[in-house]
Amino acid sequence: MASQLVVRACPPFRVPGRDSAPAVAALERDALRLLDEPELERARAMMPVPRQDFLAARIAQRSLAAELLQVRAQDLRASYACPRCGSGPDIAHGRPGYLLAGAPAPLLLSLSRAAGWTLLGAVTEPGPGQRLGIDVEDPRRLDFDGFDSVALTPAERHSVASLRGDGLLRARARLWARKEAVLKMTGEGLNRSPETLEAVDHPGVRDLAPAASGLPGSLVAAVAMG
Ligand SMILES: CC(C)(COP(=O)(O)OP(=O)(O)OC[C@H]1O[C@@H](n2cnc3c(N)ncnc32)[C@H](O)[C@@H]1OP(=O)(O)O)[C@@H](O)C(=O)NCCC(=O)NCCS
Repeated sequence: MASQLVVRACPPFRVPGRDSAPAVAALERDALRLLDEPELERARAMMPVPRQDFLAARIAQRSLAAELLQVRAQDLRASYACPRCGSGPDIAHGRPGYLLAGAPAPLLLSLSRAAGWTLLGAVTEPGPGQRLGIDVEDPRRLDFDGFDSVALTPAERHSVASLRGDGLLRARARLWARKEAVLKMTGEGLNRSPETLEAVDHPGVRDLAPAASGLPGSLVAAVAMG
């Protein structure tokens, strides 16, 4: 299979009005069966709702990786890379990746969550030095004073200055999704100040429309590859 970008949206784990207890029990069982100890240890430190979202997303990511690599999910070992802590199977935060039979699996991965949705990106058979970042944002979460000054460059602030209401929130979300996609692609994350990163014309970054992402139109997503 030639190198290709695969994008998959996973719907919210909790369905309003439906008892989530059976789904939570199944999730916990799947997590114990499929995830590695450093991932489970990280989950144990979380409150119930973020913990369930975390476990569901990690299981979805592993399942996608196994499908694309044509192996069993249990054959993969999570091996993350953090710019501060280093990388390897003992690290469960930072840039995602897996080991297969002790060697890095030939797959780039990126993950993002918003409004209960998980967005997964993967590149099969990546070229040398190739990188991937993906991000989804809920515009409703960006309705606060001070966002523009801490998150946007002067040119980006100018571009949203005349906007109001939903138009402003969607423009902020579009810029923020692009920034986080780039910061995941580079591996820097928010160790780099976002107001120093120009997101609109950054090479390799583009918006992901709902038809391409599988997300609802209320959310905004971007992917960065380079
Ligand atoms: C990456 C980051 C910008 C995304 O934040 P967010 O909007 O809250 O969360 P999202 O849902 O969009 O993305 C979360 C995913 O980003 C990915 N991610 C985290 N850090 C990453 C990095 N440095 N490079 C690439 N991807 C990264 C992980 O897959 C994570 O999923 P997980 O919760 O299963 O581990 C932010 O979490 C960040 O800057 N993290 C790094 C901070 C850091 O380095 N701290 C030092 C820890 S010792």
